Amino acid sequence: MARQFFVGGNFKLNPVSRAAKTSLVNGLNQASLDPNVEVVIAPPTIYLIPTAETVSNGVKVAAQNCYVKPSGAFTGEISAVQLADAGIPYVILGHSERRTIFHESSELIAEKTRVALDNGLSVIFCIGETLSEREANKTAEVCQAQLTPVIKLLKEEDWKKVVIAYEPVWAIGTGKVATSAQAQEAHADIRAFLGKEVSAAVADTTRIIYGGSVTAANSKELSTQPDVDGFLVGGASLKPEFVDIINANK
Ligand code: G3P
Repeated sequence: MARQFFVGGNFKLNPVSRAAKTSLVNGLNQASLDPNVEVVIAPPTIYLIPTAETVSNGVKVAAQNCYVKPSGAFTGEISAVQLADAGIPYVILGHSERRTIFHESSELIAEKTRVALDNGLSVIFCIGETLSEREANKTAEVCQAQLTPVIKLLKEEDWKKVVIAYEPVWAIGTGKVATSAQAQEAHADIRAFLGKEVSAAVADTTRIIYGGSVTAANSKELSTQPDVDGFLVGGASLKPEFVDIINANK
């Protein structure tokens, strides 16, 4: 079945002014975007509501994280209930920066995914191996270990609201993009794993997007791979070339 191409822009902890955020949003609002692509941008928490209120052109908004609890004494956190109430449709969970810098386990990320889905959010669920894991031929094993806890917590129909982002850690922010063959191989392995552990239908319909040093220059070739259903873009989502990445298939 045809999976709708998906391009996400993960702004991470950028930009650092409301003026710069507004100019990023205005740039997207004024651009000519491929109408067949689902486009989602993830600004920092402080800019979520103003971004959601001003973005147009069919672009949706994602949070970069959320907590498992709905409310209470959890200083610094944001809940799925709050995101849903604010009309934010997506949340990124399990980004490698959350896993490494903030020590989030695959079990916690699975629990967050369950809670996000229960609150009506869609989830961009990130996985990926480090360089040493790739060099030890453990890419598939690592991706499977990161997926297993969430597979246990999700029902078959939940997968309609999940996009898997394969982001090899060695490619994130390094300028060292995976080759299209490396991306295709990892995506095909992930899809096969979904087929084995969930169902053939979920394997066929779940979008698996690639993240890690995606640019306008490399996005075209990556997008030709049969199991690459889009991108999660970091640095380049803050630049005008983000539009060319969205339009990689146009
Ligand atoms: O989530 C996107 C990301 O981690 C990739 O970042 O800067 O390599 O495109 P970047």
